[in-house]
Order: sequence, then C-alpha cells, then structure tokens
Amino acid sequence: MPGLLEGRKILVLGVANKRSIAWASAQAAAREGARLILTYQERVKEGVEELASSIPGARALPCEVTQDASVETLFRDVGKSWGCLDGLIHSIAFAPAADLERAFVETSREGCQVAVDVSAYSLPLLARFARPLLEGSGGASIVAYTYLGSERVVPGYNVMGIAKAALEASVRYLAYDLGVAKVRVNGISAGPVNTLSARGVSGFTKILDVVKDRAPLRRNIEASEVADATVFLLSPMSRGITGEILHVDAGYHCMGL
Ligand SMILES: NC(=O)c1ccc[n+]([C@@H]2O[C@H](COP(=O)([O-])OP(=O)(O)OC[C@H]3O[C@@H](n4cnc5c(N)ncnc54)[C@H](O)[C@@H]3O)[C@@H](O)[C@H]2O)c1
Repeated sequence: MPGLLEGRKILVLGVANKRSIAWASAQAAAREGARLILTYQERVKEGVEELASSIPGARALPCEVTQDASVETLFRDVGKSWGCLDGLIHSIAFAPAADLERAFVETSREGCQVAVDVSAYSLPLLARFARPLLEGSGGASIVAYTYLGSERVVPGYNVMGIAKAALEASVRYLAYDLGVAKVRVNGISAGPVNTLSARGVSGFTKILDVVKDRAPLRRNIEASEVADATVFLLSPMSRGITGEILHVDAGYHCMGL
C-alpha cells in the first residue's frame, strides 16, 4: 500500500538533533514515502547532515531565519532541486535565556523582538519565499509547532507565550492569504517533549509531572505522536482543514483544573 505522503516533497525546518520534534516528523514523513530536505542552523550542521544521511534520498541545507538572504538562498536551492514543494514543517523557536528566565513583566524590548522574530515572524517569512513553489503543488500544506503557553499562563514560558500567540495568529492569516492557491496552513500545539529547546524553560520537569497527573490520558506525549499528526496535516486526508490549531497533548488543554 502506498504511504500517505508517497512522492511528496517536504521541507523540514528546525532539526537540531535526534530529540528534535522536527526529526521525529522527518522520520514519519519518510516512512510515509515523502522526499525530504532538512534545514539546520550552522552550529548543528554536522549532526544534522549525519541524521539526513540515514534517510534514503534526504539531504540537509542551511537556513538562518533571522537573515532574509539565507531564506532566499534556501528556496532557490529547493526550487532548483524539486521545482515545487508539497509541504513545509516549521519547527523553529528561540528566546534569549535571560528573557525566558525572568518574570514576563521584566521582558526586555530586545528579548521580545528576538523571540517574536525567530519564533513567529519566521513563519510568514518562510511562507512568502516558499509561495511560488507551494503554488506549484496544487495542494500543499504548511504545519507549524506551537504550545499551550500561547493560550494560558504557563509559569516559566514567559515571553515565548507571546511569540507563540503571534505564531498561531500567523497560521490563521496565512491560511486566508494562501488558501486561494490551495495551500493549507495549520498548527500543532504539542504537549511538553524533552528537547534541547524545552530544557531552556525553567520548571520544565514540573510541567511534565503536572501533565502526567492531570491530562485526560494520564501521561505525557512522545515526539512520534506529534509527527504522526503532522503526517495527517501534510496529507490529503486533512484536505478540508486549514487555519486550525490541533492539540496533541494527551488532552491536557481541555482541563480546567
Ligand atoms: N519540546 C516541547 O516541549 C515543545 C512543545 C510544544 C511546541 N514545541 C515547539 O516545537 C518546535 C521545535 O522545538 P523542539 O522542542 O523540537 O526543540 P529543538 O531545540 O530541537 O528545535 C528548535 C529548532 O529551532 C531552530 N532555530 C532556533 N533559532 C533559529 C534561527 N534563528 N534560524 C533557524 N533555526 C532556528 C534550532 O536550530 C532548532 O533546530 C519549536 O517551535 C517549539 O517551540 C516544543
């Protein structure tokens, strides 16, 4: 039986290492028959190239979302290789440690700008450069990863909550702008997963404990569960869904207490 993403060309942005949610999603997409290009930040180049080499036909390219020129070069290369793009996974976030650690009321102007620029503005930026390639697909899909800290107060998530709220609003505005070209845009609000970025959130272990105690499924999620939901949102199975934020969090978001 053919995979759900058989032959589809998917760009995965934000692999740092084997714990990255982006890496779980790359593996799930490959399992479903997708062709893949992964992107990395220069400081993790070697590790990501090694990961990419473990997926037949996959390769890795650099992308630094704070630089328009880097994004432009990426899509020029993707265009030369593939001519069009069927899917894009946005798995990128960053806030300066000092701003993440201090109380939200103390957030610096620069820290806020960096967090929103990297974690939220990068989505419309990437979509803009990707647009000609996505339009060539005839049914492309963008998926971005977000977190409950955008909707509710999660102590310790601080300025990143504001960045994720901007990211989720960006999902909706992009869904409207790109829908006319049959490009869908959705978000997945993932439960806590132990990754490099997550460890920068103070009290992260406590968040894991609380979710395990109180989520309807009485457990935490695994990156592979976010990855499988991503496959669904990238595939024609979700062809009627856009502008949506899907929670993959063992149900934690629906609890009042
Ligand atoms: N881990 C969690 O608990 C959790 C929960 C919900 C949502 N998310 C989201 O999932 C996504 C992936 O995070 P992760 O947990 O896999 O951590 P991760 O550290 O593995 O991935 C974050 C990625 O962002 C990339 N990045 C940061 N700044 C960048 C820049 N300027 N240019 C290009 N790339 C940049 C890093 O290189 C890294 O690959 C993020 O959006 C994160 O907020 C994570």
